[in-house]
Amino acid sequence: MTVPTPTLDELKRRAREAAAQAYAPYSSFPVGAAVLGSNGEIYAGANVENASFGLTICAERNAIFQAVAQGVRRIEVVVIYTPTPAAAPPCGACRQVIHEFGPDALIVCCTDDATVERRYTLTELLPGAFGPDHLAGRR
Ligand code: THU
Repeated sequence: MTVPTPTLDELKRRAREAAAQAYAPYSSFPVGAAVLGSNGEIYAGANVENASFGLTICAERNAIFQAVAQGVRRIEVVVIYTPTPAAAPPCGACRQVIHEFGPDALIVCCTDDATVERRYTLTELLPGAFGPDHLAGRR
């Protein structure tokens, strides 16, 4: 997937902006994500933690669920922003959710330092993924 630079810049801006709204009092690790839907719209989300730690939701899933709740079913690009020295890739749970809506998605992990940006395809991050097709005949 090739994404125009202005679109990618906007996705990064929205992801960074979303991280400012993260609720991360337990980890002090704010994450922001912005996804590009097949409709050309951008949806953003941040991680939201809970005193019952396991209920925490990651920024990526929050952003994707925002898109899905607005009727989007296909995600083209996922941008993840962390205010860290190294770019952070999506966790395993988020990789699985990205696979559901964006098996061919481009994933861009960015920080405040443009030189440490990392790009992946979902296939690289989750080879051999389980997905909707594997349920064929059981639905
Ligand atoms: N986190 C994300 O938001 N996305 C990821 O892909 C990795 C982890 C959040 C969850 C938790 O609030 C904090 O980062 C530390 O794990």
